Amino acid sequence: QQDLKSRLLELNKMAARYFYYQLRSENGRQGLEYLKSRQLSDETIKSFGLGFANKYSNDLYNYMKKQGIGDELLRESGLMNVDEAKGMYDKFWNRVIFPIMDVNSRVIGFGGRVMGDGKPKYLNSPETPIFDKSRNLYGLNVARTSRKKNILVCEGYMDVISLHQAGFRNAVASLGTALTTQHAGLLKRYTDEVVLTYDSDDAGTRAAMRAIPIVKAAGLSAKVLHMQPYKDPDEFIKALGAEKFQERIDKAENSFMFEISMLEREYDMKDPEGKTAFYNGVAAKLVEFEVELERENYIEAVAERYHIAFDSLRKLVNRAAMKG
Ligand code: CTP
Ligand code: MN
Ligand code: MN
Ligand code: MN
Ligand code: MN
Repeated sequence: QQDLKSRLLELNKMAARYFYYQLRSENGRQGLEYLKSRQLSDETIKSFGLGFANKYSNDLYNYMKKQGIGDELLRESGLMNVDEAKGMYDKFWNRVIFPIMDVNSRVIGFGGRVMGDGKPKYLNSPETPIFDKSRNLYGLNVARTSRKKNILVCEGYMDVISLHQAGFRNAVASLGTALTTQHAGLLKRYTDEVVLTYDSDDAGTRAAMRAIPIVKAAGLSAKVLHMQPYKDPDEFIKALGAEKFQERIDKAENSFMFEISMLEREYDMKDPEGKTAFYNGVAAKLVEFEVELERENYIEAVAERYHIAFDSLRKLVNRAAMKG
């Protein structure tokens, strides 16, 4: 098993090199143009090891065969599709390639993006003996050395790359999968604070809501960055630049207050009954702060935000506590 893993790592390194050189050859011109159109510099393209998968059929497969790689290893690598009728053939085809690295900068998998509006937008390596999506974060190999006070957790490849290019080398992404307990444990090794920097659409908001308890359970503090009116960090940086993004980081919302805002959406705040139900919901959440001073601080923050009396809210919380 250990031998298989090291052979897969070796194979991925070869594939990453191959894709890398294709991007710089005549074949990869469209890929390079695409990456430039997304405003990535040569230096950025190089430092993330971006590459290109050719459109010739079985280009990578044929290359690997010439290097003497056996079918068995290729099958295990996730770089090939295996089909009863068609046999084995390249999974990545006419796409720009994002090598995915572990914290030690070993290539464990790949993502590939269409150049334009085709579907699916991204293809990713399947899970393999060396690629476990729930235990790896894209960009963490760099972010771990960034010496910033927090880590920005965003959604996608382009978010991480744009942020790094803009100087936010503390950005990582969970690549289309929900943040897991293992991800949070990994983050905890390198930081004490996570800023959730997900897309501003509904999917991103839901992802943030799910991530908050997971991040907190790992003993990390969680904040939520507001991206509006832009969709994701990549688009934000392009529109407003790094300074404005830094302001948003500085203003990132306390995760409890973010949860409260989301809860608020479920009630009709123009109706006294709706409002009361909302405050009861808030009180039920405030009860969960076991340290009295912390609880009081949050009661104060909520009371201030909604312009209600501290004492009224505290009474409501005490009553919620009695009910258990
Ligand atoms: N993703 C995926 N497959 C898809 C769509 C998305 O694996 N069909 C993953 C990718 O890792 C992607 C992330 O989810 O980077 C976030 O998706 P999305 O917000 O849709 O894409 P962007 O990262 O914004 O991509 P781009 O800016 O290139 O359009
Ligand atoms: Mn998204
Ligand atoms: Mn996005
Ligand atoms: Mn995007
Ligand atoms: Mn106000």
